[in-house]
Amino acid sequence: PSLQSYHTFGLPSQCQQLTFFNTADEFLDALSSASHNYLLGEGSNTLFLEDFDGQVLVNRIAGITHHETTDAHHLRVGGGENWHQLVVKTMENGWWGMENLALIPGSVGACPIQNIGAYGIEVGQFISSVEVIYIQSGEKAVIDAKDCLFGYRDSVFKHALAGKVLITYVNFTLPKNSERITTYGELAALENPTAKDIFDAVITIRKAKLPDPAILGNAGSFFKNPVVEIALYQRIQAQYPNVPAYDIDAEHKKIPAAWLIDTLGYKGKQWQGVRCHPTQPLVLTNLGSAKGEDVVTLASDIITAVHQTFGIPLEPEVRLVGKTGLVTL
Ligand code: EPU
Repeated sequence: PSLQSYHTFGLPSQCQQLTFFNTADEFLDALSSASHNYLLGEGSNTLFLEDFDGQVLVNRIAGITHHETTDAHHLRVGGGENWHQLVVKTMENGWWGMENLALIPGSVGACPIQNIGAYGIEVGQFISSVEVIYIQSGEKAVIDAKDCLFGYRDSVFKHALAGKVLITYVNFTLPKNSERITTYGELAALENPTAKDIFDAVITIRKAKLPDPAILGNAGSFFKNPVVEIALYQRIQAQYPNVPAYDIDAEHKKIPAAWLIDTLGYKGKQWQGVRCHPTQPLVLTNLGSAKGEDVVTLASDIITAVHQTFGIPLEPEVRLVGKTGLVTL
């Protein structure tokens, strides 16, 4: 079967078997039948660069349950639920907090893996625990938030637990006294906004800058924003006084990869069917006829150019899947 409509970048790759599961048991039953397995949500952060020599399993575990305590709203959400629809539901019910994370493509089960974040908030702040099944043993476990080791686009699910667990449910706690976060530049203009105001503003900003994957294939940010040592930041600043940066700690700054790529003139640049997006160069798009090798060529070019000029190794933020599993550039 074709994977083209199961990953938002829309490359024309195939797999041997495509399986949808609604429960952990259905997932475990399906596993035994293939040599290689790749677990997928909505495919908004995965690119199938070539035909996958195995089974792709799509998480369709559904369900949202809510209970309330004096201080907070608590949600238990199936990994196969759509992320944005969850945010919409929290807005409709007055369960505030996640408004800054509106319109992020993808599934709930994927959200803890890369600790999705936007406009000053990361989802890890609201996750109390993640329910998993160990793939080898079929054992259930609940991973507490502190053991998820959430960081910028990072968690234990990318390291010690990578490839070892299926995320079945995510538990969220939304404190009733949460504050509205408008620290991010483009939200700072809002005066005393309600959660709904922020939700609406985020949607407007995202629609203006980021290509809609339903119209133009893409997987959001292709690269992570690099965290660099202050000394390197200062060397770059000496040459480019306008280099933007966010504070991380006393020794580190985070530089927007969009600025590095923009500065090197890659904005709008095209290689075969792949283009560096004109309004947000951190995003690569599929002009319709892109092949995996085109993506690899343009992305590798960008990585090499950024490394040569700035001495910074850019890392993909998306997951790249080759013939038998994850690959690196
Ligand atoms: N910039 C340029 N040229 C451009 C666009 C941006 O130089 O054409 C520079 C500007 O200095 C701008 C800075 O890049 O201030 C940051 O740009 P933007 O606000 O668009 O955010 P970003 O850092 O590029 C990150 C996330 C996005 C998230 C936004 C908003 C990563 C890898 N990406 O992008 O996440 O929506 O912040 O919080 O951290 C995603 O992960 O798929 C994603 C879209």
